[in-house]
Amino acid sequence: MTTTPAAAQTAFGPMVIAACEQHLPAHQRLFDDPDAARLLPAGQRLIVGACRWKPVHQLLVKATDSKADGLWASLLCRKRYADDKVREALHDGISQFVFLGAGLDTRARRLVAPAGARSFETDLPANIAYKRRRLTEIHGRIPDGITLTAVDLKIDDLAGALTTAGLDWNLPAMFVWEAVTQYLTEDTVHRTLAGLTAAAPASRLIFTYLRRDFLDGTHNYGAAPARHEFVTKRQVWHFGLLPEETPKLLRTFGWTEREHVGPTEYTDRYLRSLGRDLTVSPIERFVYADRPAEASSV
Ligand SMILES: C[S@@+](CC[C@H](N)C(=O)[O-])C[C@H]1O[C@@H](n2cnc3c(N)ncnc32)[C@H](O)[C@@H]1O
Repeated sequence: MTTTPAAAQTAFGPMVIAACEQHLPAHQRLFDDPDAARLLPAGQRLIVGACRWKPVHQLLVKATDSKADGLWASLLCRKRYADDKVREALHDGISQFVFLGAGLDTRARRLVAPAGARSFETDLPANIAYKRRRLTEIHGRIPDGITLTAVDLKIDDLAGALTTAGLDWNLPAMFVWEAVTQYLTEDTVHRTLAGLTAAAPASRLIFTYLRRDFLDGTHNYGAAPARHEFVTKRQVWHFGLLPEETPKLLRTFGWTEREHVGPTEYTDRYLRSLGRDLTVSPIERFVYADRPAEASSV
């Protein structure tokens, strides 16, 4: 019997939180994701259902934040930020989206397909098999415009797999790499970025990372229990960066950093206007980069 790798099992937690957010009144929600709960396994759908009751919802937030102060809100804000960036890219005419380590993310069907653009979702084989099965159970088939491809970023040929899946490297694409880098080694992070070097000019990339000074124990950021669980005990968090290191890393692989966000930006952009007084954990940050558009030949 094959067991699901520990890193693959992390695909479910973010969607439980995204699904619980949908119980809030529309005007308070950070984002709308009606599909989030449907993709989850039955047991987790039950938990999400129970979160309709405020005390249960509060209990789950408290349990999550007991690992890292502000973890619940950090995840919600990160989902909102990635939604905004995908919407911006669609608005600017990008027609192909690649979700690396997509987990149960729903943007392909929720945002990309309705705009007539194509999505390529990649993840470890166990999660691709699960998503394929669940999408087929829900919709009777894989929804149009979505291609699911098993890619282990550690060992597989990412560029080759995307080519086979139908990605057109001559057209700009947006690559979304959300909450994945921490599960990889530095070599695999570099290998993945190297796999995207053929991306066309005007392509975009967003990725999250965990702060290395948190992972190595220099600072706790109110998240020592999370480090104990994910670094020491389960040994699934490996890679981290310092905020000042991201521009150079991106430059090495042909990308230009455009934006770098964390708790301050999330609070200013999203939480304050929604009147939500939430603490956001500083351990995870989001970076947005692009590939310079080709200079027009005269
Ligand atoms: C925390 S989940 C995030 C899922 C999704 N991106 C989201 O934000 O909801 C981490 C994802 O990274 C994937 N992952 C971890 N190691 C990987 C590897 N070596 N190759 C491909 N995917 C990997 C896991 O299978 C999982 O789906």
